[in-house]
Amino acid sequence: MKKTKNIILCGFMGCGKSTVGILLAKKNGMAFIDLDAYIEKKENMTVSEIFEKFGEERFRELERQAARELSAKNGVVIAAGGGTLTFQENVDVLRKNGTIILLDLPVETVARRLENDTTRPLLNRPDKDEAMKELYNKRMPLYRAAADMVFDADQSPMQVCTEIMKNI
Ligand code: S3P
Repeated sequence: MKKTKNIILCGFMGCGKSTVGILLAKKNGMAFIDLDAYIEKKENMTVSEIFEKFGEERFRELERQAARELSAKNGVVIAAGGGTLTFQENVDVLRKNGTIILLDLPVETVARRLENDTTRPLLNRPDKDEAMKELYNKRMPLYRAAADMVFDADQSPMQVCTEIMKNI
């Protein structure tokens, strides 16, 4: 049987990985899996609860395991977490059977989109803007290194989806 590659959406928190992923999957008749939601379902806890109760290290372990499990699938659109593709091990495992697409977004748009968000434990702190910028600057080069293709995500999810469809 012919195996279809997965599409893995990568990028900083708030770049639209899940929203664009759902649209892309629907348009292509593919299944959609959100990696964070996959972990939440397996653990029966939210990502925030996992961070709170067990810490970031435990979350990264669960994320690594989820990346391994999802890489065994074929022809699915996967929305990675914002940290997933900053770890080489996850890049290697997901790329074996998938095309990694970076949704690129300026930090100013991220800040605007996440202004009232409380669901990202890494940004739930008094110095949120500073922490966001630091993390963004650290991660963008890693995302670019991991990505097979890069798309401008500073537009509506439907526009991003259309751009991706034209090019893959
Ligand atoms: C994280 C991003 C989140 C989630 C967790 C850690 C990160 O996913 O995996 O809070 O390290 O950037 P989203 O990018 O979907 O918000």
